Amino acid sequence: MKSLTSLQHLSDQAILSILEQADGTEFPDFANRMAANVFLEPSTRTRCSFEMAEMNLGMRSLSIDEAGSSLQKGETLYDTVKTLEAIGVSAVIIRSKEKAFYNELQDVHIPIINAGDGSGDHPTQSLLDLLTIKQEFGSFRSLQIVISGDIRHSRIASANASVLKRLGAEVWFSGPQEWMPDGITPISADEGCRQADVWMSLRTQLERHDAMEPVFPNYLEQFGLTPERAERFKPHTILMHPGPVNRGVELHTSLVEAPFSRIFKQMANGVKVRQAVLAEVLKTKEEKRYEKAV
Ligand code: CP
Repeated sequence: MKSLTSLQHLSDQAILSILEQADGTEFPDFANRMAANVFLEPSTRTRCSFEMAEMNLGMRSLSIDEAGSSLQKGETLYDTVKTLEAIGVSAVIIRSKEKAFYNELQDVHIPIINAGDGSGDHPTQSLLDLLTIKQEFGSFRSLQIVISGDIRHSRIASANASVLKRLGAEVWFSGPQEWMPDGITPISADEGCRQADVWMSLRTQLERHDAMEPVFPNYLEQFGLTPERAERFKPHTILMHPGPVNRGVELHTSLVEAPFSRIFKQMANGVKVRQAVLAEVLKTKEEKRYEKAV
């Protein structure tokens, strides 16, 4: 794997192999490698867990944000990444509000890891979600997954639905019809909570809404996860949320740390999968360098 921009380009076997590696304990030492974390949108979980993963692999890292970089002076993302490549960076992790920002980076020679591109994709979030579900159920086959909330503006919902279906799960969307992708009819929250083996709540992506977007003053009661709805869960149902959580909006605050919540486990798994992804792209780069030398 040279770069990771989306799970769409990976086979089922490659995805399962990353999950297996993430749950293992042995990682190579990458002490001579430098990562650059380029975060052009706010982030706590993804940025900090990449930094933690890099430290755990023995790497050193640079941190770049929009305000403090020459992107402010009009430099392109391509020239920014070429600069990082020129000064000796081994891999670049990028979060951007631009969907598919990585298309302009096809001529760079170092691995690019997509840490979230607008409403496009967030492949390491999908991997940590998959790992959390696999740890719980062992497999994805026939699991009923309900993804609830602002599906249309989410960079996680459609990508997760696509990979979960490939791996054998059934996926349902729940939430306001206005926030569904074209052609999708949501199931109600009442029906969804009875059906779900996994209930995945999403944050409303207000930063991606335009002025015409509808507002739902009673969102929690109409569409969200209330304690009353959670009482209808099956005994084994788990609650997931990618974070950050808007407590009292998409789910009741008492549920964030409920026994069936795996929200903080997802965050811990974020470090594991990011270690595995970094190890994979750096290993591939090492193999390529070796191929050139022989
Ligand atoms: N889930 C997620 O991407 O969180 P951050 O925006 O805090 O990185």
